[in-house]
Amino acid sequence: MKRKWDKAEESYFGIGIYQPKTWDNIGTLWRTAYIYGASFIFVIGARYKKKSSDVLKVWSKIPLFQYATLESFLDCVPYSCQLVGIEMGDKSIPIKAYQHPSRAIYILGSEDAGLPNALSNKCHDLIVLPGETSLNVAVAGSITIFDRVNKGSK
Ligand SMILES: C[S@@+](CC[C@H](N)C(=O)[O-])C[C@H]1O[C@@H](n2cnc3c(N)ncnc32)[C@H](O)[C@@H]1O
Repeated sequence: MKRKWDKAEESYFGIGIYQPKTWDNIGTLWRTAYIYGASFIFVIGARYKKKSSDVLKVWSKIPLFQYATLESFLDCVPYSCQLVGIEMGDKSIPIKAYQHPSRAIYILGSEDAGLPNALSNKCHDLIVLPGETSLNVAVAGSITIFDRVNKGSK
């Protein structure tokens, strides 16, 4: 039986942080991700100490994948899914003009060091949010998720 899929049925997104330092930022991002429809979140090479202040029990709603290394993360990027780096820089597209891909994994840099070149070089796109100085990492991720939900994906 042939079936025509709706565009919305062919899209999903996940979001994560490279080498995050604080559990609070992961918790904040996880909550936004769950509420606004992410399929998963992830961390790569995490440095945080886990805390348990999660009122929504988001761990029971969408999974947190934990990759030990950048290589193990890159090995797991799904077929036909684009990696979108969220980072300030000359090569980054202003989010206002950005059309989000149907299937995307968004990746943020750590609180202290940002996204390393080894990772940003692997991204299909890099996007930047407005502001002269950097935002908190969970705020930057949450605004990006909201932009995707607000605009939809291509
Ligand atoms: C606190 S910032 C890192 C700042 C770091 N000290 C640096 O200068 O690279 C943490 C992460 O938040 C995200 N971020 C913060 N502000 C952003 C902005 N205006 N546009 C895009 N990403 C942003 C990026 O992923 C960044 O790596």
